[in-house]
Amino acid sequence: MTKGKVDALLGIVFGDEGKGKVVDFFTPRYDVVARFAGGPNAGHTIIFDGKKFVLRSIPSGIFDEGKINIIGNGCVIAPDLFMVEARELEQAGYSLTERLHISRRAHLILPTHRVLDRAYEAAKGKNKVGTTGKGIGPTYSDKAARVGLRVGDILNGFEAKYQALKARHEQILRDLGFTDYDIAEEERQWMEGIEYMRRFPLTDTEVIINRALEEGKSVLAEGAQGSLLDIDHGTYPFVSSSSTTSGGVCTGLGVAPNRFDRIFGIFKAYSTRVGSGPFPVELFDETGDTIRRIGNEFGAVTGRNRRCGWLDLVALKYAIMINGVTDLVMMKGDVLDDFDTIKVCTAYTKDGETVTDMPYDTEGWQPVYEELPGWKTPLSALRDEKDFPQAFKDYIAYVEQATGTPVSIVSVSPDREATIIR
Ligand code: IMP
Repeated sequence: MTKGKVDALLGIVFGDEGKGKVVDFFTPRYDVVARFAGGPNAGHTIIFDGKKFVLRSIPSGIFDEGKINIIGNGCVIAPDLFMVEARELEQAGYSLTERLHISRRAHLILPTHRVLDRAYEAAKGKNKVGTTGKGIGPTYSDKAARVGLRVGDILNGFEAKYQALKARHEQILRDLGFTDYDIAEEERQWMEGIEYMRRFPLTDTEVIINRALEEGKSVLAEGAQGSLLDIDHGTYPFVSSSSTTSGGVCTGLGVAPNRFDRIFGIFKAYSTRVGSGPFPVELFDETGDTIRRIGNEFGAVTGRNRRCGWLDLVALKYAIMINGVTDLVMMKGDVLDDFDTIKVCTAYTKDGETVTDMPYDTEGWQPVYEELPGWKTPLSALRDEKDFPQAFKDYIAYVEQATGTPVSIVSVSPDREATIIR
């Protein structure tokens, strides 16, 4: 962390890397914590003072009274869900309105965006993306089509703009023959959310961030989703609709690339994915079930089973390259404690062709594995790297060597003390 610089903390595979677990370690070091992409499709589970919170749109610096928190222009925000999330924090005693700045350029997720999300998914038949249903894709589509409603519109001729966009959505839904929905109650809460949002600074967050940087303050850009769900670099079309990689930090906050210092890439000691799409390392056997059970791999937003598999170095190396990761953060090594051997995917193969770079289309590729010895030792009580079993040290060293990137932080249990700096 350097003053006047931006560090990024990014999930670099398919999301759900467990960022919530390490933010307590990260956020106290920064003056400003900012979200730059995505919206309530994210669910960062954070335990603070013994109470569990699921943050969806609000940055995790909110637990520390001294921090400025920013929801940047690259984000999309659902006023009703934001209100629920914010009120829960207020009821727990955290003051928000002075410390949470929302970009006027961020786009609003309308109730009809959520209906459209369902309608588009239904129309896709067996090629469903498996979205979170939060209206993310339709909202970013409207942004790109230059018809979206922005947070700043709340302060300026809102009602007419809302009705116009809603009417446009209703027309699309009629065209799709998707008319069996009722958003009356949802819309009432949404409008209450709009009123609630007025008490926050709805502002030019890019100016706030750049001023803070000029004053020598440090900024943490907090990612959501994962790099392989990025609209450009992910496994398209099975992706989210925002720029989840480090490039998205520049556009989603309005900070220039020369402001970056360190880019922390979080990954798990194994792989998971929620929703549809190619996932060459997916295990359909008992090993996959064991990883899911021990790792508690069920979605924070949708409760869906996460698909599980061994670590995928093809994907990891690609994500490190795209993001410019300077430091890796390895999560959940303890989930693999009981395995005799641990597999690592080093290449993909299809029809006699073998690749080690991420292919354009990851559909149909089979993983090529290397096997490493398991450590067969419980890691979760360990708090010092020197106590790690040799096989676990070797596993970390293997990843570092294969990716050319240091694993600077290792987490071996859900306990916050189990975040070990190397
Ligand atoms: P959407 O972002 O709701 O449009 O969903 C698109 C894809 O991204 C689906 O496969 C979701 O399961 C996945 N996705 C979206 N947000 C997250 C997240 O925070 N963690 C993991 N997967 C996510």
